[in-house]
Amino acid sequence: MVRLYGTFLSLCVTAVAHGATVSQQWSLTADSIAPDGFTRSAELINGIFPGPLVTANKGDSITINVTNSLFDSTMRRSTSIHWHGISQPRNADNDGASFVTQCPIAQNNSYPYKLVLGEQAGTFWYHSHLSTQYVDGIRGPIVIYDPNDPQKSLYDVDDATTVITLADWYHPTALNATTSWFAGGAEPVPDSGLVNGVGRYNGGPEVPWARINVTSGTRYRLRLISLSASGTFEFSISNHSMTVIEADGVAHEPYIVDSIPVLPGQRYSVIITANQTVDNYWISANQTVGGATTSTDNSNFNGSNTWAVLHYSGASDADPTASQPTGLADGGIEFEEFNLIPLNDPAPPGGSNAADQVFNFTFATNASNADLWTINDVQYKSPSVPTLLNILANGFTNDSDFATTENTFVLKPNSVIEVTFTGGAGHAFHLHGHTFSVVQSASGGNANYVNPPRRDVVASGTSSTNNQSTTIRFLTDNPGPWFLHCHIDWHLEAGLAAVFAEDPTGIQSGSQSVVPNAKWEQLCNVYNNLTSDLQ
Ligand SMILES: *[C@@H]1O[C@H](CO)[C@@H](O)[C@H](O)[C@H]1NC(C)=O
Ligand SMILES: *[C@@H]1O[C@H](CO)[C@@H](O)[C@H](O)[C@H]1NC(C)=O
Ligand SMILES: *[C@@H]1O[C@H](CO)[C@@H](O)[C@H](O)[C@H]1NC(C)=O
Ligand SMILES: *[C@@H]1O[C@H](CO)[C@@H](O)[C@H](O)[C@H]1NC(C)=O
Ligand SMILES: *[C@@H]1O[C@H](CO)[C@@H](O)[C@H](O)[C@H]1NC(C)=O
Ligand SMILES: *[C@@H]1O[C@H](CO)[C@@H](O)[C@H](O)[C@H]1NC(C)=O
Ligand SMILES: *[C@@H]1O[C@H](CO)[C@@H](O)[C@H](O)[C@H]1NC(C)=O
Ligand SMILES: *[C@@H]1O[C@H](CO)[C@@H](O)[C@H](O)[C@H]1NC(C)=O
Ligand SMILES: *[C@@H]1O[C@H](CO)[C@@H](O)[C@H](O)[C@H]1NC(C)=O
Ligand SMILES: *[C@@H]1O[C@H](CO)[C@@H](O)[C@H](O)[C@H]1NC(C)=O
Ligand SMILES: *[C@@H]1O[C@H](CO)[C@@H](O)[C@H](O)[C@H]1NC(C)=O
Ligand SMILES: *[C@@H]1O[C@H](CO)[C@@H](O)[C@H](O)[C@H]1NC(C)=O
Repeated sequence: MVRLYGTFLSLCVTAVAHGATVSQQWSLTADSIAPDGFTRSAELINGIFPGPLVTANKGDSITINVTNSLFDSTMRRSTSIHWHGISQPRNADNDGASFVTQCPIAQNNSYPYKLVLGEQAGTFWYHSHLSTQYVDGIRGPIVIYDPNDPQKSLYDVDDATTVITLADWYHPTALNATTSWFAGGAEPVPDSGLVNGVGRYNGGPEVPWARINVTSGTRYRLRLISLSASGTFEFSISNHSMTVIEADGVAHEPYIVDSIPVLPGQRYSVIITANQTVDNYWISANQTVGGATTSTDNSNFNGSNTWAVLHYSGASDADPTASQPTGLADGGIEFEEFNLIPLNDPAPPGGSNAADQVFNFTFATNASNADLWTINDVQYKSPSVPTLLNILANGFTNDSDFATTENTFVLKPNSVIEVTFTGGAGHAFHLHGHTFSVVQSASGGNANYVNPPRRDVVASGTSSTNNQSTTIRFLTDNPGPWFLHCHIDWHLEAGLAAVFAEDPTGIQSGSQSVVPNAKWEQLCNVYNNLTSDLQ
């Protein structure tokens, strides 16, 4: 593959030709914002939170030049950006996971990320992948449109106005929150939940709720995106059922529900029909942390007070007059993950045959420090040399080449990998570089080796014995070191992570090798030269 970074390839963001290159210039700065009425310094992309919507068409390439102008010392001042859900074939060097696929980008430096979309289309997002930095604001939506979407006949409108971001929000900075936590405090609990960047906290001002405008008689493809670091959002719209057609960038058969949980990092496309009386309707985005909507650790947090408004053209500009719902209406249908059926090639890799490599990941808190998390008794700790650099420059190819605390497992190429997660409910495991088939969903149902859901963030379950553990399968067709971690960002920080080093010799050479550019080669030299407060 020829790697071209010349600007002559760049077309404008409205490019429609198949295989176009979409370019954005990003400037990362710190500035004060008040999404829930509380003013704090945050880290912003081009001055906004959530960050800019990135759109492209299936088959395009995306180039995003990230310039680091982060100068607020209460937050991390280096950065890296992960493109969540984009598989990045032959492009692991642009996956953006600090110390797995790159060193962070230092202050006053830039890095031009290139995203390779391949055949992927759907709803994605991006976020800082340096420690817990995305808590401070570096997170936003990505939509890859498919001009030939096989489900296009099911909806009329699918544009920037139908992208709905759900985010937890914190008043202390991530560094402050982490310092208090590890000094014996509680795991950080958000102060508020935001829908499209606005929300409220207990005792705070009545910030106007976000409004989603619709016109009677029209069908809308809403793209729900959790930008969350911890909270899970239960999403519903009064008097409107939703038809789920996509989970995490993978098209699924239409599935009608009234309410859907969106875990940190998960995305869904749901179709709604504006066929009710012209009026305003409550959109509920009930936020839970550890399964609860209140917390003794943060009295600002009120998960049941996260709302938005579905506004029909012709209705008043006020809030709905109906009372806010207090839960699923009688007879309402709650989404169950195991009911999802992929639209295309639904079988999991290997069908019901034994997998080639099986991993049994038991996760738990450290017996002597409940703030720290382990997988099979190992707390993941970021190495100082990124996994990819160790594979490319230092010839690492075996598990034993990596330090124990890197929790790194070598995968053979063209193999069926099966991973079972055991250790408790409520975690959200994400794998970079692949979507996976959820052959056993924590939502229940029997093991499904015929047509199970396919996605990239999955809930963990309570036990391995009652069909409520979680088992995933994927095929190793994408050489690269891929991070596997809990998407509750505080848990990742506390070690709930592993790395799959997929086909190291294939990364090093051959037709699927990863060939970083000169800018990538310099990242570590520049970063390692920084004083620790700037790292
Ligand atoms: C990225 O931005 C920097 C300025 O911050 C600029 O010097 C550089 O030329 C840009 N690179 C690309 C590929 O656009
Ligand atoms: C970045 O530039 C600013 C302003 O020119 C300077 O004060 C700062 O020291 C620079 N940072 C680094 C890491 O060189
Ligand atoms: C961080 O914590 C310190 C000490 O508790 C406090 O003085 C400061 O205001 C906090 N800063 C932010 C941005 O939360
Ligand atoms: C929705 O419509 C109102 C007018 O009723 C308008 O003020 C508002 O800007 C619209 N919101 C969006 C997101 O388009
Ligand atoms: C909306 O649903 C509620 C509760 O199910 C019901 O009482 C109300 O009549 C419905 N509103 C309309 C306009 O249909
Ligand atoms: C509104 O649309 C939904 C979903 O398409 C459908 O199930 C329902 O019957 C429709 N209701 C009315 C009153 O037309
Ligand atoms: C939390 O929000 C709900 C819904 O708006 C409200 O009824 C409740 O009083 C709030 N709780 C507190 C402690 O303010
Ligand atoms: C919000 O979640 C809590 C806890 O699960 C539940 O009791 C409550 O009914 C939910 N409210 C809504 C509006 O979904
Ligand atoms: C996985 O590990 C757990 C805990 O160590 C154990 O109970 C279970 O039997 C193991 N499962 C398999 C399939 O090895
Ligand atoms: C558990 O925590 C203790 C105290 O912080 C530490 O000494 C020990 O190495 C940790 N164990 C694991 C498996 O990480
Ligand atoms: C991996 O290590 C084993 C010994 O532990 C060695 O025999 C083997 O050659 C190594 N494999 C590669 C590909 O280097
Ligand atoms: C490392 O820092 C020194 C002094 O700040 C500077 O002269 C040198 O150019 C830097 N090296 C790199 C690779 O950035």
